[in-house]
Amino acid sequence: MTPLSHLSSSSKLVELQEQMAGTHLRDLFAADAGRFDKYTMEAAGLFLDYSKNLINDDVMAALVKIAEEAKLPEAIKSMFSGDKINYTEKRAVLHTALRNFDDNPVLVDGEDVMPKIRDTHKRMREITEQVHSGDWKGFTGKPVKHIVNIGIGGSYLGLKTAINALTPYHVEGLEHHYVANIDPNEICEVFKKIDPETTLFIVASKSFGTLETLQNAQAARSWMLEKGCAETDIRKHFVAISTNLKAIDQFGIAQENTLPLWDWVGGRYSLWSTIGLMTSLVVGFDNFERLLKGAGEMDKHFAEAPLEKNMPVILGMLGIWYQNYFGAESQAVISYDYFLRDLPSHLQQMDMESNGKRTRQDGSTVEYQTGAVIWGGTGTNDQHAYHQLIHQGTRLIPVDFIAPTTSHNPLGEQHPWLFANALAQSQAMMQGKTEEEVRAELIAAGKPAEEVDALAPHKVIPGNRPNNMIVPEKVTPEVAGALLAMYEQKVYVQGTLWQVNPFDQWGVELGKVLGNQVYDRLKAEGQTVDQDSSTNGLVNRFKQFNS
Ligand code: F6P
Repeated sequence: MTPLSHLSSSSKLVELQEQMAGTHLRDLFAADAGRFDKYTMEAAGLFLDYSKNLINDDVMAALVKIAEEAKLPEAIKSMFSGDKINYTEKRAVLHTALRNFDDNPVLVDGEDVMPKIRDTHKRMREITEQVHSGDWKGFTGKPVKHIVNIGIGGSYLGLKTAINALTPYHVEGLEHHYVANIDPNEICEVFKKIDPETTLFIVASKSFGTLETLQNAQAARSWMLEKGCAETDIRKHFVAISTNLKAIDQFGIAQENTLPLWDWVGGRYSLWSTIGLMTSLVVGFDNFERLLKGAGEMDKHFAEAPLEKNMPVILGMLGIWYQNYFGAESQAVISYDYFLRDLPSHLQQMDMESNGKRTRQDGSTVEYQTGAVIWGGTGTNDQHAYHQLIHQGTRLIPVDFIAPTTSHNPLGEQHPWLFANALAQSQAMMQGKTEEEVRAELIAAGKPAEEVDALAPHKVIPGNRPNNMIVPEKVTPEVAGALLAMYEQKVYVQGTLWQVNPFDQWGVELGKVLGNQVYDRLKAEGQTVDQDSSTNGLVNRFKQFNS
């Protein structure tokens, strides 16, 4: 257990944790018939039931107190006011402006950024309509049938999550593909599926300096030329998005096919920006706008609701309660909706790249745990995989279940069964199965006494596993936007409490630098001897098979 010792109100939470550790969720429910009414709320189309958490009114009040002491309300204000809260890079953090449809100006260094944003919306709509209408033509005059997003990290995960979440809204006749990894297997598999005459590549890179994306874009360009596209027609097949318009130009993508991005949009928060062009192409700009509006609704709620009724705050503080006061190490997110299957991968980057930090603004090292390990998947598949560990394993793993009440595909009884399973998992984690219940069941099944004794301990399920149920009606564009924004703001809440900067990512740089060094050695003549023995040995082994 690593409490947030820098905050004096933390001691109350330590005390309350000791009390709650001796309480079972079953008993909390038995003692209070109004628990569901007390610990549920609704915002921006998301209904949240957080009653199955190890909380009572004292805990919730203490969590709010610690958030106040950490100046969370001020931090929320700072974010929306365009303050340079990304202090290590001296940048504002304004992905919220991208989904702001109010008429108020949003200032960065005294300049209103809203007109720039509106211009990009216009341009995104135009490109989308040109592609959909067939007016955008390839080098042989054929309309676009395949779009390929070349991008990685935030230039891939968020938009893919949104696109799959909105599967029922996909336009017909366009196939979408993604190339992220530098592994040549990935792009070669995409090449097999696409047709050079009808393919539009979108090179999405905030920096336009990312190795994977540049290598893949180069490979796509060479492939187009090999397939008969003239140099002068390449512009018909490439659109690029970046803050670095000069680098796009050097790469050879026509200026009229570029879309800008700004340094006040973090990479992992960029699905709302021009990086969302792929989303707009797949679902149409109107639906992309609905996604933005849903996210904007969640922002409004986050900015205006009091802490105790604020969904991202409640979820963020509950995460802190388990990570820092109960010693939990991970957080599972399990969606009972096939269309949300990419959510855990997106949240892994968004949450872990944001809060996987150890240094405070003043340079001191934190003495408590920060960023949880995020993982998850989709129900019911996961019930047949890792739920066993959640139910009977030794670790405390808080779970967010996401379960829409209504399916886009109401086929027979399948959706009620799906929803029943989500509720049942949530209930099983809460109540478990006591030894008394297990024994009674075995006896009723006619088992002899010694078998009852032998089996009972294996069949006991402790329960008392905290979990949230997030229940939208249906995953519409607005709901998907609200859900993604809710998790972003939850991450900000936690970063504020942990006193880390959720908006930089210096930790990933070392691997990139060493990657260049190792690559040089793989390509150099002779044996490598100047690195550590493991790197030398493995470089030389690679060379043995690639000389
Ligand atoms: O992995 C580091 C990172 O900088 C991420 O933060 C980012 O989303 C990703 O690389 C891709 O960056 P870019 O959009 O600049 O190509």
